[in-house]
Amino acid sequence: MELIKATNLQKKFGALVAVDGVDISVSGGQIFGFLGPNGAGKTTTIKMLTGVLSPDLGSIEIIGLNYKSNEIEIKKNIGVVPDEPPVFKHLKGKEFLQFIASIYGCVAESFNRIAELVELFQINFLEDYIENYSHGMRQKLMVLSVLMRKPKVLFLDEPTTGLDPYSARALKLILQRFAQEGSAIFFTTHILEIAEKVCDRLGLIVDGKLVATGNMDELRQQAGSSGDLEEIFLQLTGADEKQIMALLEEL
Ligand SMILES: Nc1ncnc2c1ncn2[C@@H]1O[C@H](COP(=O)(O)OP(=O)(O)OP(=O)(O)O)[C@@H](O)[C@H]1O
Ligand SMILES: [Mg+2]
Repeated sequence: MELIKATNLQKKFGALVAVDGVDISVSGGQIFGFLGPNGAGKTTTIKMLTGVLSPDLGSIEIIGLNYKSNEIEIKKNIGVVPDEPPVFKHLKGKEFLQFIASIYGCVAESFNRIAELVELFQINFLEDYIENYSHGMRQKLMVLSVLMRKPKVLFLDEPTTGLDPYSARALKLILQRFAQEGSAIFFTTHILEIAEKVCDRLGLIVDGKLVATGNMDELRQQAGSSGDLEEIFLQLTGADEKQIMALLEEL
């Protein structure tokens, strides 16, 4: 079943069309990687898919429901890790997790999972105030607060930014396990190696438009390339190695 389905999404900021006619569908069990240059429209798309921004055009169904009639039901079932971890300065990490678990009414089942996740992510700072966390520590806390609920649908905006290699690997493995257990996962990343290894399907957005979508083989066909994801990405975004070298020559 398609747990994320968006058709013809559009979002304008003044004259700028930040997202321009994007179609996305992700089924339960799938990990979808959303790639594209800085400013291409990835975060804007995630904000629409998670109900933070309303699209100007197009329709969104999450777990078969739409935000206009079933916003609360959708929000109970999704987990969102935004690109900037929000700051709850005056809470300790542990208090933040208790707060989130109580909002979602999942206190009991979360607590077993927190213990496992704490061990997996080697977290030893839950007794400290969030104010004193590093960027990566905040990111881990956000990831943990979402994973502990085991949502059916997960949206993560550059989740590995700020995570150390061990934690990034732990996150990759746990996302794969969630997918195996039926969740749909939508995440953005600039790290093509992670995208290539982890995702079942990929979408590439450039200037608000989805220019390619599919598995690695399908992307290769669309790019007319036999290379890795980096080569495909450069080809489909219109910037290739030769262009970079030519510009370097001029410096
Ligand atoms: N609130 C806003 N007001 C005006 N313009 C915005 C707003 N949010 C985003 N934009 C513009 O929309 C475009 C897409 O931005 P978006 O944040 O979606 O890009 P992105 O693909 O997530 O980029 P990055 O890889 O750098 O995170 C950019 O040109 C950005 O300046
Ligand atoms: Mg972004």
